[in-house]
Amino acid sequence: MKRLLVAGNWKMYTDPAGAGNLASRLKGSLGSCGWADIAIFPPFTSLAAAVDAVRGSGIAVGGQNLYWENEGAYTGEISPSMLIKAGCTMALVGHSERRTHFNETDSMLNKKIKAALGAGLHPILCVGETLEQRESGITEQVIEKQLMADLDGIDEIEPIAIAYEPVWAIGTGKNATPEQASDIHKFTRQLIGRKWGEKAAAGIRILYGGSVKPDNAGALAEKADIDGFLVGGASLKADSFEAIARSFK
Ligand code: PGA
Repeated sequence: MKRLLVAGNWKMYTDPAGAGNLASRLKGSLGSCGWADIAIFPPFTSLAAAVDAVRGSGIAVGGQNLYWENEGAYTGEISPSMLIKAGCTMALVGHSERRTHFNETDSMLNKKIKAALGAGLHPILCVGETLEQRESGITEQVIEKQLMADLDGIDEIEPIAIAYEPVWAIGTGKNATPEQASDIHKFTRQLIGRKWGEKAAAGIRILYGGSVKPDNAGALAEKADIDGFLVGGASLKADSFEAIARSFK
């Protein structure tokens, strides 16, 4: 059976002291979690504190973004090797907030995924439709277009996890129903099977993200194709993140 993955996206929240406290509390409760992999994504300036706090535990730390070059005159950017040296083993790529507010395109995301894999980081690639796209009935086309473009030219996709995050469910308190999420997860796995083969489809983890909370996590976690969660708001409080992680137990 595949290991589940429960990841906390801390977005632009926490200073180093707050991140250290939250991470050490999670180390105590989920540091040797037997049923799932746990990962946290603090802002760059809090990475060192979080890495220090979880050292020696099973909790992975990742960057929320990265650039595709290793070094150079790219003011404001962080490279894959810098993340590795800061103690990261993972990176988020293509979060809808990056796509929307920072104009990240699929061709940029493709370079980011390749750079992350090349450096030995495990990327979580986020995909998802807007409300308008869902209402016009083109959700599947949107997911297919994003996935195929973002993963273009990549043969080994097993180190990647996909996060299906409907844009209309992020930070809105409106989560996709377990059925809506499960339909898209199934569709995504079939797409992967057609392009990368059945072994890749069975092995890849497809997470759900978008207003996951302790009270809706259990019903989502029961769905066969949901292999974990990417949690935003509810990952900033140890109690709620722990409760969400326990929903897979
Ligand atoms: P949310 O965010 O859980 O606050 O909706 C999810 C995400 O942005 O990854």
